[in-house]
Amino acid sequence: MSDFGKGADNAGGSSEENIKHWDDFYNEVPAPANYAEIISGVRKFIGDAKLEERVVVVTSGGTMVPLEQLTVRFVDNFSSGSRGAASTEYFLEEGYKVVFLNRQKSIQPYARHISSVLDVLELDGGANVTVKSCHASKIQTVLERYEKYKTSCFAITYESLGDYLWFLKGVSTELNSIGARGMLYLAAAVSDFYIPKNDMPEHKIQSDRRPEITFSLVPKMLRPLVKDWAPEAYIISFKLETDPNILLQKAEKALKLYQHNMVIANMLTTRKKTVTAVERTGEVMKIDNDDEDKEIESLIVNLVKEKHSKYIQENLTKSPLP
Ligand code: PMT
Repeated sequence: MSDFGKGADNAGGSSEENIKHWDDFYNEVPAPANYAEIISGVRKFIGDAKLEERVVVVTSGGTMVPLEQLTVRFVDNFSSGSRGAASTEYFLEEGYKVVFLNRQKSIQPYARHISSVLDVLELDGGANVTVKSCHASKIQTVLERYEKYKTSCFAITYESLGDYLWFLKGVSTELNSIGARGMLYLAAAVSDFYIPKNDMPEHKIQSDRRPEITFSLVPKMLRPLVKDWAPEAYIISFKLETDPNILLQKAEKALKLYQHNMVIANMLTTRKKTVTAVERTGEVMKIDNDDEDKEIESLIVNLVKEKHSKYIQENLTKSPLP
């Protein structure tokens, strides 16, 4: 283990003795089979952005941690993908190109507005399938928006924690090529625990005795993300807690520790009504949504876009375009 990983604080309030260096994690966990193909697609997508265009990487959904090599059982982090999917739509409407790194079967942009096909379709006269008239206008609006923005969004799906962290590394490294115009918006719920392959049983754990499962700690990838992979980008992480008394202090601690740009703190039970954004500058901004017809993500994206504009401006002043 490197000295750097040893004793690093997990931003969880505890000093951890046994956190591996992130390189050890990547040496131990294989890349997804389609990794090279996906990253080359991302390179082209980002490379095609016009000089004035911005690109945001939105991560969304939970991460699955297998308990067995031939996986029957796993543990998961809570996230439906609603925050990431809604935010993706608002970023697209604000002119961003979006790399949407999302958990398989999580909530999807645009599709989230349409209920099950069994609810919206009907057999017309027993022969033709048609859209029920009560759903037609809503579906048309959603389809128009989807058609308008679909080429501005590059979607990548993952399932396991390992796949998520591989894609995060590859995508953020590509994002760094556009400097301050890049942004990371880390709304996915990422596990802090995993079982290394060598500690994992091959076959299904049997239920004839109490299972003994020992997790290892996942290195906090925000550290290499900020330091090595995308040091030029504007980086926002989310902080989810269930105890309101520790939420802000955890957000501020994460900013101090990882030196990124913003933490958006939210509580599990009130996350759709209120969030607090904390910038590294020390500015604390509470966002409350009292309007039933509005989604809180539209307010978050407005704020984040404004802060990102300022960041781009400051970085242009530092190193103006040739
Ligand atoms: O999807 P929804 O149902 O709409 O819910 C949205 C949400 C509540 C999941 C979202 O708003 C949210 O809070 N996401 C972050 C949840 C989370 O993982 O928080 P955390 O405290 O465990 O992690 C904090 C940050 O550290 C995260 O940005 C994470 O990307 C990062 N992290 C986590 C683990 C790890 N090993 N390395 C990391 O860098």
